[in-house]
Amino acid sequence: MAIIELNQICKTYYQGEEELNVLRSVSLQVEQGDFVAIVGPSGSGKSTLMNTIGLLDAPTSGTYILDGVDTESLTDNRLAELRNRKIGFIFQQFNLLPRLTALENVELPLIYSGMDKKTRKERAASLLASLGMQRHIQHKPSQLSGGQQQRVAIARALAVSPSLILADEPTGALDSRTGHEVLDLIWELNDRGNTIVMITHDPGIAKTARRTISLHDGEIIGDERQAPVPSAVGEVVS
Ligand SMILES: Nc1ncnc2c1ncn2[C@@H]1O[C@H](COP(=O)(O)OP(=O)(O)OP(=O)(O)O)[C@@H](O)[C@H]1O
Ligand SMILES: [Mg+2]
Repeated sequence: MAIIELNQICKTYYQGEEELNVLRSVSLQVEQGDFVAIVGPSGSGKSTLMNTIGLLDAPTSGTYILDGVDTESLTDNRLAELRNRKIGFIFQQFNLLPRLTALENVELPLIYSGMDKKTRKERAASLLASLGMQRHIQHKPSQLSGGQQQRVAIARALAVSPSLILADEPTGALDSRTGHEVLDLIWELNDRGNTIVMITHDPGIAKTARRTISLHDGEIIGDERQAPVPSAVGEVVS
């Protein structure tokens, strides 16, 4: 079954007289459990597409069905609720809250989901431990390396057990070895059944996915299934 179903999605920005067509009739289905890379040059619309899939940004036209739910007619509250329950985000710059500890950052989505304090502290600590971060749960982001911060961000993305993980250049701010480790973690999430959509400008990283969608100027110009090559990751992460 398709977890993502985009039909003729257009996104247009207006700047004065000028019309900027950032997504031009993008139609795309992603099956549950797939691992999809989205590639394309800077400005081709990758992040805009991810923000649409992540319900962070509404399309100008077209329909989006997420896990069987038509998102078009939903109120902002329902959209936020759907997003919090179904989607985990991983960003290039981690997007952790600087004043909160690693544990508190991972707890945040659980507060929104209404989990009681003791359960959510235990869950956040156990997620961090599963990512090798047990010794750092009381550290603030500034006291952690880039790779450690991305692990915290991954733990936060996993907190509510979302079925869909969206990652925008997750290794972009990391050195190659750490980037390799983070990609391995993303692979483990996919092995456990999570659907992954990962944006990258790096064709080498895209090769680690099961399917690659190429965007150019807001249009899908390529869609290929491939045998994923996780072992080659180390040499190509930049
Ligand atoms: N809020 C906005 N208002 C106007 N134009 C925007 C807005 N957001 C994005 N754009 C434009 O949309 C186009 C696509 O942007 P987007 O961020 O999706 O590209 P991208 O493929 O993610 O690029 P990069 O690889 O550099 O991250 C760009 O030309 C950008 O300037
Ligand atoms: Mg981008």
